[in-house]
Amino acid sequence: MIMFATSDKGGTGRSVTSCNLGYRLSSRGRRVAYLDFDFGSPTAGALFELGGYERGVAPVRPQGAEAEHGQGLHSYLLGTAGTPARVNVRDATDREDMRRIRGRGGQLVLFPGDQGGGEFDRKKDADVISRCVRLLREVDEQFDVSIVDLSAGRSLAMDIVLSATADKALKDRTVRWLVFHRWTRQHIYAANSLVYGPHGLLECGRQAGHGKELLKDVRFVRTVVPQVDRLRGGSAPQAAWLHQQDRILNELAGELRVGASALLGTIPVEPMLQWREQLILDVDVQREIANRETVEAFDLLAEALLDARMWGPD
Ligand SMILES: Nc1ncnc2c1ncn2[C@@H]1O[C@H](COP(=O)(O)OP(=O)(O)OP(=O)(O)O)[C@@H](O)[C@H]1O
Ligand SMILES: [Mg+2]
Repeated sequence: MIMFATSDKGGTGRSVTSCNLGYRLSSRGRRVAYLDFDFGSPTAGALFELGGYERGVAPVRPQGAEAEHGQGLHSYLLGTAGTPARVNVRDATDREDMRRIRGRGGQLVLFPGDQGGGEFDRKKDADVISRCVRLLREVDEQFDVSIVDLSAGRSLAMDIVLSATADKALKDRTVRWLVFHRWTRQHIYAANSLVYGPHGLLECGRQAGHGKELLKDVRFVRTVVPQVDRLRGGSAPQAAWLHQQDRILNELAGELRVGASALLGTIPVEPMLQWREQLILDVDVQREIANRETVEAFDLLAEALLDARMWGPD
């Protein structure tokens, strides 16, 4: 399965949720690849706590060569790197707690972006698309789940992967699109517009050769959602107001086709993640640093992603 993680706005929790989702899937024995397609800001290495990869992979200067060569996904897609760099997260992470349990899970491999790679600046290029097709086919054969973290908004990366997945070499593969948004009015409108609006996923998908069935592969994920029933310390009018806002947001999400059966998961506000972008390990829950509900929400999302019934024919 290839899973694209996208969002209209930046800072939605797309990367933090996707990294944790990947980690939970790998903890259940799945082989997981994480491809950092956020070319302008490839910081997944920081989330996995991979020293030296916090801003992507650095270029190298091969022996005898005059110039440095990038080794990340950006360089691979542009054709300057033959194969993209891979980092085995469980072996290379600086998190000791994770290294200690590395034998107990499936593979988790990061394909980092290039340090200072930048967004693509040219229009869709057939060579870039065919390299992308090759890469996605390869990872889909080697891993159970390949998570592709795209940059926020209507990026060229989104166009490239839409063209790649419309290619006959990938047409038969299982592809899922997760659209992340925060639980606010602005984010709900934005998520709707990214999928259904002008130059959105469906329109760009049509131009790239997808049919209407693309929508069957799209679901929304709510992130950083306040748990109104668990608020403590506020006044009664404040609690009533917050409940009312929550209802209003639910109605809006329904009207804008971002809720009900289009919803795949909901991740609550997690203090640990508010302070630090990282993986939550079981040991963080055992030490009562992270909330159990958050990890359960990641697990539910992982299950829903893999559950074919959540991705029915309509
Ligand atoms: N469930 C959560 N609870 C609290 N804070 C969260 C949660 N999920 C993410 N965050 C925080 O929200 C911020 C944005 O998250 P993240 O970087 O994952 O978003 P993004 O959509 O990938 O952003 P960008 O567009 O910049 O790549 C981070 O500081 C992160 O730690
Ligand atoms: Mg991100």
